[in-house]
Amino acid sequence: MSKLWGGRFTKETNELVESFTASISFDQKLALEDIEGSLAHVQMLGECEIIPMDDVEVIKQGLKKIEKQILNNEVQFSVEDEDIHMNIEKLLLEEVGPVGGKLHTGRSRNDQVATDMHLYLRKQTLELIELVKSVQNALLIQAKEHTETIMPGYTHLQRAQPILFAHHLLAYFWMFERDKERLVDSIKRINWLPLGAGALAGTTFPIDRNRTAELLGFETVYPNSLDAVSDRDFIVEFLSIASIIMTHISRISEELVIWSSQEYQFIELDDSFCTGSSIMPQKKNPDVPELLRGKTGRVYGNLIGLLTVLKGLPLAYNKDMQEDKEGMLDTVETLNGSLRLLAPMIETMVVNKEKMYSAVSQDYSNATDLADYLVTKGLPFRQAHEIIGKTVLYAIQHNKYLFELTLDEYQQFSSLFAEDIFKVLQPKHVVEARNSFGGTSISQVLQQIQLAEHKMK
Ligand code: ARG
Repeated sequence: MSKLWGGRFTKETNELVESFTASISFDQKLALEDIEGSLAHVQMLGECEIIPMDDVEVIKQGLKKIEKQILNNEVQFSVEDEDIHMNIEKLLLEEVGPVGGKLHTGRSRNDQVATDMHLYLRKQTLELIELVKSVQNALLIQAKEHTETIMPGYTHLQRAQPILFAHHLLAYFWMFERDKERLVDSIKRINWLPLGAGALAGTTFPIDRNRTAELLGFETVYPNSLDAVSDRDFIVEFLSIASIIMTHISRISEELVIWSSQEYQFIELDDSFCTGSSIMPQKKNPDVPELLRGKTGRVYGNLIGLLTVLKGLPLAYNKDMQEDKEGMLDTVETLNGSLRLLAPMIETMVVNKEKMYSAVSQDYSNATDLADYLVTKGLPFRQAHEIIGKTVLYAIQHNKYLFELTLDEYQQFSSLFAEDIFKVLQPKHVVEARNSFGGTSISQVLQQIQLAEHKMK
């Protein structure tokens, strides 16, 4: 059988052009969505009496048979038929004969491909929401285990103030919570149906677009046929959300890499998430978090790639838009795989509480509390800051930590210091003192956990 659009042509397509313009190698991933869209379209055509119901039934049976063959891996797609839409139409014609040619009434590949992408992204987004939840769940499980585990909190990667490990993990919980919200919100816009827009201007047939939307579970139809076939915002939005999620995945991965280094030894990743070195027998490399960090690059690339493809396009469909697919498919696969790995990796990591605690005990991260101490004795914060700065310098010069200075030494800097400062310097006291809403004290963190658990319901 020749090309479905061959009528107007007198020459065969150049072979290089054929493979250059074909998308079947990647858009076959949309095969099931293409069939789903066609089943709804043909049903609507029948109900609107545009084609006889008998023909509708024959076409539907044919499509369902092809669907089964695809699921059983029995179908060989061909580059000659360019893309998934024409491949399936060709298979249908082979299956049911010329009546199959009625399927494409009142539609174009332009509204068809957009519909396939909407259906595909909706399905994938719903799955991704569940996967984000699984990461949140893993973070919550670890956070609940570590509501008394104290670690150094950093700014500029310099020890800043001690915090609860649970507090640190929960920071990621909230990032993923916003990601989840973004994914959920994006479905509103994915749920606009382009089908029925035709090539660009609508169709001469008395179709019922709302009926097709209803059959496919869309909330509404695009009110403008040009917009319907030109719009790829929903994919850009998906890639943006995916990029933000990958940023979060990458940041936590970076921390896992650092924390599992010999220098920190705050955590140990489970053996099943690490690999060895072909030459250095002692190595246990955090390949998984490294690769998660690395894969962030390709997702950003896919976002910028699509934005660039779209920025200069006149309305309506242009072949450039075929370039929307690989980046989207790759992003779905990358993000899905990343979230699937991140959740169990977090859940199985072993936390070295002692190492974390000895880190906070051997630093100057309680200095702010000393300044706050002087403030409670009536000194303005700026002056207190200056005094403690000098005290810290003195301690460093004498090779001591703050808790190792004597009260006499303290009193050289301010007569306001009394015996109770030694209590104030304890890491646990430092943590507990930060009892403002959203702070790191145990009771605040427990409250945060409750709120987080509520979000997971
Ligand atoms: N394979 C095409 C794509 O992915 C389908 C739409 C083709 N439409 C057209 N008028 N050539 O964009």
